[in-house]
Amino acid sequence: MPFTIAVAGKGGTGKTTLAALLIQLLRERGEGPILAVDADPNANLNELLGMEVERTIGDLREETLENIAELPAGLSKEHYLEYGLHECLVEDEGLDLLVMGHGEGPKCYCMVNHILRKYIELLRGNYRWVVIDNEAGMEHLSRRTTQDVDALLIVANANPISLRSAGRISELARKLKLRIQERYLVVNDLESRGNDNDDKPYLPADLQEELDRLGLELPLLGVIPHDGALYRLALEGRPLRELEPGSRAKKAVGKLLAELLRGQEIERVKTKINEGG
Ligand SMILES: Nc1ncnc2c1ncn2[C@@H]1O[C@H](COP(=O)(O)OP(=O)(O)OP(=O)(O)O)[C@@H](O)[C@H]1O
Ligand SMILES: [Mg+2]
Repeated sequence: MPFTIAVAGKGGTGKTTLAALLIQLLRERGEGPILAVDADPNANLNELLGMEVERTIGDLREETLENIAELPAGLSKEHYLEYGLHECLVEDEGLDLLVMGHGEGPKCYCMVNHILRKYIELLRGNYRWVVIDNEAGMEHLSRRTTQDVDALLIVANANPISLRSAGRISELARKLKLRIQERYLVVNDLESRGNDNDDKPYLPADLQEELDRLGLELPLLGVIPHDGALYRLALEGRPLRELEPGSRAKKAVGKLLAELLRGQEIERVKTKINEGG
């Protein structure tokens, strides 16, 4: 099964930016095949990845309900949906993108959703990595669409309100017993101290105090500095591959990814030891 990373957090904290940087880094390291899933109805991950989307899962869902009564003889709804799902994939070298699209209308989607879930599950098996960019807030948790995740990265920024929100998201994920192996905090868009080379992630004193006060059971995986070049790129709708190799945000995400994988490696070894392997 692939290693699945999902990104969550309060609106505008940098979820899509983090997801796209992770995907870009994995790609550059030849870690494909990667499946990127844009699960935000207001999708924009494709822009940062420089990929054109023609059809979303939302479109497929609507079309299926419209056409279901008139499917040609011999074409089951399962086949129609499986084929449609593959048509929704935007393919690039080492990377496929699936955009979930808008929510559901007033019709009954249970059957379509049921079949789609099965095929998306099967599809995931084709990749080494799955990176999911979620909408802001917690709906995706209460709807249980964020499940079977190895690492849930909850993004906050210098605004303490976003830290509190990260705490609530983490708590809900824990309470709902979603199949999420690890939850981590990532603090993005920080004023830099001019020294990005520290090994340990550094938080400004007021944020660290707030974090201690909240007592979140959420390890800090990493911090990402404000990066003016990254900001301008996104503003101009240009893809992340145009980012200079020395980009501070990208370097920080590289560090965070290494940390994430180190943690996973340690966990694997621990499990092996516990199992007597
Ligand atoms: N480290 C950073 N340096 C500079 N700009 C950043 C950084 N992180 C994010 N931004 C900018 O902040 C804005 C919001 O980022 P992004 O779209 O990634 O947030 P989001 O959490 O996905 O938002 P939404 O909740 O709307 O989905 C964008 O303009 C993005 O370019
Ligand atoms: Mg976003």
